[in-house]
Amino acid sequence: MCGIVGYLGPSQNSVQIVLEGLRRLEYRGYDSAGVSFLDEHDHLQNYKKAGKLDNLKMELIGKNVIARTCIGHTRWATHGGVTDENAHPHFNETLSIIHNGIIENANEIKKELMGHGVKFKSETDSESFLELTTFELKNGKPILEAIADSFKRIHGNSAFVILYPKTGEIFAIKRGAPLVCGINEITSEALVSSDPYALAGIVHKLYFPEDEVIVHLSGANKNLVNFYELKDLKKTTRYLSKKQDMSVEVSEKGEYEHFMLKEIHEQPGLIRNLTQYYFVGEGREALEKVAHYKPDRIYLSACGTAAYAGLVIRDFLEGINRIPATVELASEFRYRDPILKSGDVGIFVSQSGETADTLAAQSLCKKAGVKTLSIVNVDGSTLYRDCDDNLLIRAGIEIGVASTKAFTQQALTGRLMSAAMAGDLKDEAKKMKLTGKFALLAERIDHLLVKSEIIKTVAEAIYNKKGFFYTGRGVYFPLALEGALKLKEIAYVHAEGYAAGELKHGPIALIDEEMVNIALVGPELFEKTVSNIQEIKARKGIIVSIGPRNNEELMGLSDYYIPLDFDGLDELSPLYVNVVNQLLAYYMAKFKGTDIDKPRNLAKSVTVE
Ligand code: G6P
Repeated sequence: MCGIVGYLGPSQNSVQIVLEGLRRLEYRGYDSAGVSFLDEHDHLQNYKKAGKLDNLKMELIGKNVIARTCIGHTRWATHGGVTDENAHPHFNETLSIIHNGIIENANEIKKELMGHGVKFKSETDSESFLELTTFELKNGKPILEAIADSFKRIHGNSAFVILYPKTGEIFAIKRGAPLVCGINEITSEALVSSDPYALAGIVHKLYFPEDEVIVHLSGANKNLVNFYELKDLKKTTRYLSKKQDMSVEVSEKGEYEHFMLKEIHEQPGLIRNLTQYYFVGEGREALEKVAHYKPDRIYLSACGTAAYAGLVIRDFLEGINRIPATVELASEFRYRDPILKSGDVGIFVSQSGETADTLAAQSLCKKAGVKTLSIVNVDGSTLYRDCDDNLLIRAGIEIGVASTKAFTQQALTGRLMSAAMAGDLKDEAKKMKLTGKFALLAERIDHLLVKSEIIKTVAEAIYNKKGFFYTGRGVYFPLALEGALKLKEIAYVHAEGYAAGELKHGPIALIDEEMVNIALVGPELFEKTVSNIQEIKARKGIIVSIGPRNNEELMGLSDYYIPLDFDGLDELSPLYVNVVNQLLAYYMAKFKGTDIDKPRNLAKSVTVE
């Protein structure tokens, strides 16, 4: 949520560097964007614009943007509509600030400052921090103290980057929100960001400050970066430092019209690489560690698509390992005072590793003495750093806001985990068998992608219908939830995922000739699922079946039929069916003409609760 980048160094090109960083982070939020910088006369200049980053870039064309110090932001609105005024940075004649997070007591602070004659320009909570810090400065406090005292007053999770024009320095601080800074000692550059990806290719060393540590970017003549404790302003080493080894991956769409389609197509290759990585490559050690887990009970916790991948993993752990496992929505789990015991294991599934609720769920488990494991895409993310053990899903960078390849890799990493816990790592024959199954899944998905015209034709026939029920039973039920979520996210139509047997307990009242049932029919519980389809058909619902090929009965019942070859896939077949759902949502959105890679109102990484 909200991309933030700050730069201080000798380059006069800081605005371009910050804009490039923001471009890499735009997937975090894209309601509006802005920059503040000190021009060659050390005057503060500010530009901000509602809409995507390109709007800001247009605004900057022809402007004199020579600058050595710059901060920038892409926004995902929390407080206040999407307008130029509400865009960040927020600035006055003394300071400029950018913010990611929520200030829960902003109204109280605003009221108090208004009592002192302070005027506010925006509807945001962020401006309260700007004005509070300015107020403290005007009261004679030095900058570090003014920032510290203001930060101590605010409630909630936030990260701030502050540009102080008087000295040309940049400060940053966070609580429960991502923040990283990096330096290049050769070029004397120092940067700060919400995501290391923005710094890749520029800095050599990264620092991840802990909560309530003030970061100070100070320029070439002093240390490039200093860290101070919030509580007493003494120098601190409460940060993790690490070599910057992330490459700026090629994130171009290539031959594909959208990143989402490209990412769907990447899945077979990624699936093949996953067994390589964990059985013979660098991942072996991590998986071997997990092989020693003997939990009494497993809590899987996650948000959105990752939570649905968690349901697939739960089915592996209960079905194969016979270990009791539950999936918890992180936003609920963190507040519901769950009964956690030391023999339990908490597994946290996440693409970004930065989702605020998932991080809070992990922290809850950690405090309760429960072992924590991440199944995560971003190496070095907060979740990765906070968990005891980690299994990387190796999906590569995912740009499309609607998650596709991460779901598949999360679920399959869960399958490898279940194999490890079952002792299969010691058995070459079992490893070979599982590698073969993964390869078969990759091959079947390859075939599906070649035949995606069939799915496109179905999408064209139904995309304008009133509503969609995705139904499935057993291991296909999580896919009904994920399929409906994909459609809602990118096609902006109402869709619900339902357990096939549950529809008659209410939702069936909604069925008429304008409602579509996307029926996910696996070989398991086939007859029962078919009966549920009959019930919808009898009420004139439109039936789209995704099920076993050559099945006359299903074909006869369906208005549209997408035949699949389930043979040999067994417990991995849900991942195969899910790719059909991904393509169906993609094509429906394409017919609707929506912004597929950056759907309205969404952000890829949700760092607020
Ligand atoms: C957002 C994204 C979803 C994602 C969810 C969890 O809502 O739009 O695609 O599934 O966050 O994100 P995570 O990074 O933790 O997997």
